[in-house]
Amino acid sequence: MAIAFNVDRLASIRTPFYFYDTNILRQTLDAINTETQKHDNYFVHYAVKANTNPKILQVIREAGLGIDCVSGGEIEQVLKAGFPANKIVFAGVGKSDWEIELGLDKGILCFNVESIPELEVINEIAARKGKVATICFRINPNVGAHTHANITTGLAENKFGIDMQDMEHVIRLAQQMQNVQFKGLHFHIGSQILEMDDFIALAHRINDLQDQLEAAGIQLDIINVGGGLGVDYKDPQANPIPNFKDFFAVYQQHLKLRPHQTLHFELGRAIVAQCGALITKVLYVKENAIKKFAIVDAGMTDLIRPALYDAHHRIINLTSTATEEDTYDVVGPICESSDVFDKDIPLPKTHRGDLLAILSAGAYGEIMASGYNCRPLPVGYTSEDLA
Ligand code: LLP
Repeated sequence: MAIAFNVDRLASIRTPFYFYDTNILRQTLDAINTETQKHDNYFVHYAVKANTNPKILQVIREAGLGIDCVSGGEIEQVLKAGFPANKIVFAGVGKSDWEIELGLDKGILCFNVESIPELEVINEIAARKGKVATICFRINPNVGAHTHANITTGLAENKFGIDMQDMEHVIRLAQQMQNVQFKGLHFHIGSQILEMDDFIALAHRINDLQDQLEAAGIQLDIINVGGGLGVDYKDPQANPIPNFKDFFAVYQQHLKLRPHQTLHFELGRAIVAQCGALITKVLYVKENAIKKFAIVDAGMTDLIRPALYDAHHRIINLTSTATEEDTYDVVGPICESSDVFDKDIPLPKTHRGDLLAILSAGAYGEIMASGYNCRPLPVGYTSEDLA
């Protein structure tokens, strides 16, 4: 079932705004739970950076998922939404002292530590508080991912994680510290990955690292493989639910998990992208010698992905009844040449007042909105709000 639009209802709301179809979200979560419930040691943490809309968080909490945070603000937001602290993992190359304190005070499941200086600070702050921080090390597996360069994270040149060759050394350091408890390893190779071979490569790399550590007498309890599963931006209506079956099967088949270990996933985009759309109104249709521009009231301040990553989002006209098509550049009102949602796309003949939906916008959409040009932040409505 594709994302469903109640056009009359949408037309009564001031544009631009985000619309979330909670049926799609629930089906997505069901598809995840169907796969993970085959294993009693698989745990999915929603990467909340993708979307922190409280109504979305509520549906995800009801499905029983844990959370992956990258800031103290995210930790506060998910605690407010009712997620238990002991289901939160906390990553990030630059954790501030107050964020570490918050994680310790609330009793989060695990800090994913990305450097020796960070390890030392966590140990120091935990000692001051008389606590012990549970930690995993984020290891840079030097596994490439077939995705946009700006969202590749697992290569040696990226700022994330600890080099593989330093892994044993940092674990030994942690084991000598009084106020951290080393539990396992964390990885994340990138985002919007559709080739299962990339995840297979990660699984094989983890197998090698585990063998190496076991030979050195080091045991792991937690393996966290991060997120990164991509979605179909080209045809979201045909493929609203990502291929979770193949994704989880990769790890079942290729990762040599030891019986006592738990396997953790941090999926963001795959959970929320397809349930969301940015709804915008056509302000003007402007023609020049070579182009027709549909100038809409949403801009890169509402959805920055096309401007920032050259990302493609399918755009549909929700209200046009025209049978003929024309070719348009769909552009926003912001004073930046990159404020373009798509170029040379076919749409049914489009006029001032038409409502367009920019699809697959549930992940890294509303949350990345900015107030540039003093524009108000877009509001998010769910299908339940509009029922
Ligand atoms: N875990 C870690 C450590 C991450 O850095 C990320 C995403 C995730 C999990 C979730 O990845 P996902 O399952 O969503 O691919 N703003 C960009 C995406 C940035 C992703 C950053 N890290 C975009 O709009 O494409």
